[in-house]
Amino acid sequence: MRLRRDDPIEVKSPAQLAIMREAGLVTAAALQAAAAAAEPGISTAELDAIAEREIRSAGATPSFKGYHGYPATICTSVNDQIVHGIPDPAQILTAGEIISIDCGAIVGGWHGDSALTIRVGQAQAGAGHQLSLHGEHDQHGGSPPDELDALLSACERALWHGLAQAAPGRRLTDISHAIEQAARAAGRYGIVREYTGHGIGSQMHMDPAVPNYGRAGRGPVLTPGMALAIEPMLVLGAAATRLLEDGWTVVTADGSWAAHFEHTVAITDDGPFVLTAEDGGASGFAALRSGTEMRLGTTSRPRAVGAVGARNGI
Ligand code: MF3
Ligand code: CO
Repeated sequence: MRLRRDDPIEVKSPAQLAIMREAGLVTAAALQAAAAAAEPGISTAELDAIAEREIRSAGATPSFKGYHGYPATICTSVNDQIVHGIPDPAQILTAGEIISIDCGAIVGGWHGDSALTIRVGQAQAGAGHQLSLHGEHDQHGGSPPDELDALLSACERALWHGLAQAAPGRRLTDISHAIEQAARAAGRYGIVREYTGHGIGSQMHMDPAVPNYGRAGRGPVLTPGMALAIEPMLVLGAAATRLLEDGWTVVTADGSWAAHFEHTVAITDDGPFVLTAEDGGASGFAALRSGTEMRLGTTSRPRAVGAVGARNGI
């Protein structure tokens, strides 16, 4: 996608944001359904089918399918895959692996986009990231569970620090800077630079690009009605990426494992409202303020949104 610096950022009306909220909830429900099924022995293609069924049963449309020829409803990026991995019936998940699941849905022409990364088999465990899987990880390229948990929680935390900056009067790179600061404070992670978050609304990818690093205080001033998809990608090794022959799958150049978390957030008069979080982001921001552990991607399963006609006030 070509981003022109001078393209205005789409500003949504309250009614349009209400439809984006529906798209966000459908996206969240599909993502949680796929994540809950990410157990050893399942294929990434089966996860894709689960997400697609969830989206279509809500009367919504998968946004990734057909996007520049992309063949699936979700992206499934396993281990050293960072983003845009294509679901495959031959790709069977095993214990000790990590998987980023990225999902998007369209309701009434408006988009939601969200991703999370989990350890295979840990989606339903609640505080299960504290459970030990010692001995189960692959010694040939795998990483110890504690190191993976730290990576995942650093990336999710960095996302929430970025989301917290999506408030009226902030500048775009306040988000970027907050993500980078949080990632650096969490450990010696590589911060992927070649892929960014993005504006979102009547299309999935819109201006502005939202880098996950940089100086604060630059770029457009954020105003109510804008919406952004914020999506940090952190890796255990170096940040350099490589594109596989399939033209989609982005992997780390050094083979180190990667985490990716994403939410769609609306800038409102009252501050950030996380359209793809069931509670609008309340528990995520609370965890950020109190400094408590967050694995929000795995804590609750949003209720299904049955009808496209239903309006969720935000
Ligand atoms: N959340 C991903 C992104 O913004 C969605 C990619 S969808 C695909 O890059 F269709 F391009 F794969
Ligand atoms: Co996105």
